[in-house]
Amino acid sequence: MNERLRPSIEFMRWIRVLPTLLIVLALTAGCDYGRMKEDEAIQTHETVLPEMPGRSIPREGGIEVLRQADSRDLRNPLPDTLQVVERGRERYGFYCRQCHGPKLDGRGTVGQSFAPLPTNLLDPKVQQNDDGEIFRRISLGIERHPPLWYTVSEEDRWAIIRYLRRASSHHPG
Ligand code: HEC
Repeated sequence: MNERLRPSIEFMRWIRVLPTLLIVLALTAGCDYGRMKEDEAIQTHETVLPEMPGRSIPREGGIEVLRQADSRDLRNPLPDTLQVVERGRERYGFYCRQCHGPKLDGRGTVGQSFAPLPTNLLDPKVQQNDDGEIFRRISLGIERHPPLWYTVSEEDRWAIIRYLRRASSHHPG
């Protein structure tokens, strides 16, 4: 090869990569990669969590307490009074009626898209469970039943159960 031509061939090679180089520079100009790490938020793994002995459960309020409880030990803390039943009736309207229906027979509008259909709450199969068992089932969910512990307050769940009892004594399934 002609020795005098060699430098210009090298030069041509560089010229070809120049546009790519310029594009990369243009795209990265103004990027400040450090910024995300320098804000005041706590960074992942920045705080070391305390070591806990195995099988620890929260002492208060945690759903784990209910998960591990024997439903026979769960007593309805609310008295069987008209006031409580009335509260249960109202809260049933907020939280259950759309699936279990105004007559508690499982014929709520939303519920009709479920398979199996929502249970008839006046049915002896439901009513024969004690309060604790019903409480546990609706709180944690059962089969296709949504867990309701984080949407319906504990007191409301117990009041609704009082209402279910009262309703079934008027209209036994
Ligand atoms: C999103 C719809 C939906 C809502 C809301 C809902 N349920 Fe249900 N429920 C169902 C379905 C569906 C079943 C049948 C579940 C199955 O057998 O798989 C059921 C079953 C039940 C059962 C029978 C459980 C068993 O022992 O088999 C009880 C009791 C019950 N629901 C109570 C309630 C109460 C009380 C509320 C309100 C606090 C409520 N449900 C809210 C859909 C719903």
